[in-house]
Amino acid sequence: MQENNRTASLVKTMKEQITADLAEAKTPEQVEQIRIKYLGKKGLVTNFAKNTDFAKLPPDEKKNFGQQLNDLKNFAAEKIQESADNAAKLDSAQNKHRRQIDLTVPLTAAFQRSGSAHPIAHVQSELETIFEGMGFCVLDSPECETEYGNFESVNIPADHPARDMQDTFWLQNEMVLRTHTSANQVRALKRFGAPFRGIFPGRCFRYESIDPSHENTFFQCEGLMVDKGISVANLIGVMKTLLGEIFKRDVLVRLRPGFFPFVEPGFELDLNCLFCGGKGCPACGDGWMELIPCGLVHPNVLRNADIDPNEYSGFAFGVGLTRLAMMKFGIRDIRYFNSGDVRVLEQFQPLV
Ligand code: PHE
Repeated sequence: MQENNRTASLVKTMKEQITADLAEAKTPEQVEQIRIKYLGKKGLVTNFAKNTDFAKLPPDEKKNFGQQLNDLKNFAAEKIQESADNAAKLDSAQNKHRRQIDLTVPLTAAFQRSGSAHPIAHVQSELETIFEGMGFCVLDSPECETEYGNFESVNIPADHPARDMQDTFWLQNEMVLRTHTSANQVRALKRFGAPFRGIFPGRCFRYESIDPSHENTFFQCEGLMVDKGISVANLIGVMKTLLGEIFKRDVLVRLRPGFFPFVEPGFELDLNCLFCGGKGCPACGDGWMELIPCGLVHPNVLRNADIDPNEYSGFAFGVGLTRLAMMKFGIRDIRYFNSGDVRVLEQFQPLV
């Protein structure tokens, strides 16, 4: 009985030792060392009987010893196999990972290709720099607007025919995909008050049939300046600075009356088409490209932003960023912008 207890405690200690050794082993090689240590020819489990003087045990205790030894062998074999499997799995996963970042692989042409900024991103960034130079701030704004924000706040009531010109996509929560960036006029003035100078570039949407010069998804950059004594002269001055810096040459523009409910007086600033020189082409139509609708901020808009129109006046404009990018880069078809065609987009160098 005493022998049995001794055997049981030796088996227990051996099992604990095996478990502890395996817990340390991380690689298949380390597990293999442990297998040899216990189950190899001269292994501790293999020679357990010899080491414990099995032969000298009384016959009735030999049977019990045999059972315990079998149990120990099974335990050792099972646990070591388990660890070997896990270590092998880990090893192959690490190898795979190592292969993925193999720095010795020669650099092929495919790896040397770098991305480039979208042409609209180029123009937007350029515009932001120009306006920041004139003391304007640049504000981000949401692409979904409330009906009030997109229309009513800029003096377009529900029954106004101007809404027909800006049909858009209505969302189920009664918001709209904004048709223009003008919704930010009242938002910004309410937040920052007067005097104010800022631009709001962003994506706009209209229910529009698509052709070389029309898209249902396009970019605008709204600008707004409100202060005491602002007039059309300030508006023209800022527009001239803008175009001079963007095109870096003299361009021909014309100003003609235009109607927008949120400006009075309102203008259309057209650019003489840089593709056809004014003769007329698919990109422009009649030789002029409508580029910057603008005007003096309507008193109702100022009132909606709690600003007294007798004290303050201002101008607003909405540059067609997409059109500007077409003119600047000589892209003759507006449909390229949203096409995701890398052959077009990769022609533009990264911004940095
Ligand atoms: N929001 C107008 C449009 O998208 C453009 C505009 C902006 C006109 C500011 C005047 C002043 O058509």
